[in-house]
Amino acid sequence: MFSFLNKDQQTGEVAELQLDEQNIPAHIAIIMDGNGRWAQQRHLPRIAGHKQGMNTVKTVAMAASHLGVKVLTLYAFSTENWKRPTAEVNYLMKLPVDFFGTFVPDLVKNNIRVKVMGYTDQLPAATQKAVHDAIEDTKDCTGMVLNFALNYGGRAEIVTAVQSLAQQVQAGQLAPAAIDEDRLSQQLMTGDLGELRDPDLLIRTSGEERLSNFMLWQVAYSEFVFMDLHWPDFDQTTLEQAIYQYQQRHRRFGGLTN
Ligand code: IPE
Ligand code: IPE
Ligand code: MG
Repeated sequence: MFSFLNKDQQTGEVAELQLDEQNIPAHIAIIMDGNGRWAQQRHLPRIAGHKQGMNTVKTVAMAASHLGVKVLTLYAFSTENWKRPTAEVNYLMKLPVDFFGTFVPDLVKNNIRVKVMGYTDQLPAATQKAVHDAIEDTKDCTGMVLNFALNYGGRAEIVTAVQSLAQQVQAGQLAPAAIDEDRLSQQLMTGDLGELRDPDLLIRTSGEERLSNFMLWQVAYSEFVFMDLHWPDFDQTTLEQAIYQYQQRHRRFGGLTN
């Protein structure tokens, strides 16, 4: 049984809460938002928030792995984030180099395998190399999958999948009637995760309550938990709070609970 100290946001009351070990969400996806505002509140440049946010990724990856999470998907850079000032984009593109450069030995030690989903061929060469090396160095790990959404967009992902299916039809390898939900799921960037491909729990930090083009297809029946804190302030306890909220939900998938 995992227990943790929970502080009620309204009353400030502290209570020890217990997580049900049998009901840890297998796939958790997180929209890591609020780095810029975290920095601005401290009169720091936005990139200071991104740097702190990278440390949070390390903490949360370890915590999730210890809790028994099977897949942790983290939204690190969207296909729309290129709209930001060049200096910020350049900093964000350097982060994976720093992150994997220092963290891969810990990932291997904890049996965590790195996966990346997104249009990685559009990333700077150094970023592509860091990503490629991390995937290669952790390829034999059999524990949690740490899946980074990097230059990822949910709509673009669906368009790419549809193009690929259309090509298979054109080549005479696939009948249009054989295109079903499972076939499309397999074609998405999460297709290789098998039955773990759809998140059970989606968390967004920073108080925003929107998807911002994240995993549009895969979250059809995910439980959503929105948290007010900014990503650099997220930690093991807030992860446990989100899982605790998840465990209070009744997932029905359109049916009825007994
Ligand atoms: C999330 O933090 C990180 C990325 C989108 C790369 P933001 O940079 O969006 O921070 P806010 O939302 O502006 O505070
Ligand atoms: C979503 O956050 C993208 C990531 C966390 C990587 P944004 O900060 O880009 O989303 P919007 O612009 O507030 O919708
Ligand atoms: Mg944001």
